Amino acid sequence: MVILDGKKVSNDIKNEIAVEVQKIKDKGEKVPHLAAIIVGNDGASLTYVGSKVKACERVGFESTLVQMSNTTSEIELLEKIKELNENADIDGFIVQLPLPPQINEQKVLLAVNPDKDVDGFHPTNFGKMALDMSTFIPATPFGILELLDRYGVETKGKHTVVIGRSHIVGRPMSILMGRKGFPGNSTVTLTHSHTKNITQITSQADIIISALGVPNFLKAEMIKDDAVIVDVGITRVTDETRPRGYKIVGDVDFANVSKKASYITPVPGGVGPMTIAMLLKNTLLARERHNNI
Ligand code: GUN
Repeated sequence: MVILDGKKVSNDIKNEIAVEVQKIKDKGEKVPHLAAIIVGNDGASLTYVGSKVKACERVGFESTLVQMSNTTSEIELLEKIKELNENADIDGFIVQLPLPPQINEQKVLLAVNPDKDVDGFHPTNFGKMALDMSTFIPATPFGILELLDRYGVETKGKHTVVIGRSHIVGRPMSILMGRKGFPGNSTVTLTHSHTKNITQITSQADIIISALGVPNFLKAEMIKDDAVIVDVGITRVTDETRPRGYKIVGDVDFANVSKKASYITPVPGGVGPMTIAMLLKNTLLARERHNNI
């Protein structure tokens, strides 16, 4: 069994990006600038956005964090997005999800300039992805592809089962794994809450990508020998023995599933750090688009 070490690979990618940033600086050009908007004070979201900002510093990007209160109106958020769309200094930005209930997520995602949409959530970019056109691929699916690529995991002709159909992970992942190319060319089954007898499906999978958010959902009995397991789950579970009072748990029963799998991502240290690395990569791409490089 091989651990798909997202922490290591994401560090490699960040080092590669830092080299690119140095080249930009050496030419006397402006470094990439990523902004993030966070609305409200959800602990997990604040942690994720904090990690994104820290990663920008690490590779030499400029970053701007826009914190808005939990009672922010939809109009106020849309105005802030317009401001970032029009700010030529900012190459790309994200609006951290989820948003408070008074704000319509779809309206927000539509308001982001597709050329600055480094999350790849705007329908224009999502459509381009589905049509194999050059675009911003959402960071988590992009990170999973990169991890499979760098470990040389074969996806062609394999049966990939995706668990969960979220717009951020499951749905784009199912499209990307079925695309022509590498990684891709898989036969994909997208499973969700209405799927019947999921074990019958997962036990036929060569590759399982679980993005459900249910701790320890995927058990050893549900997979075949030598399956490739990608765990996208990041649920906070109370753990009084930890200084923070919680631990992060994936969708996969790692202790038992890892004994049967050929490759497996750990949680933490698997897909999570890859998401951040690929957001940086998209920001570098946004800068190139922005400057028509
Ligand atoms: N919430 C959970 N994952 C993500 C992500 O990749 N981007 C944004 N904007 N919000 C998220």
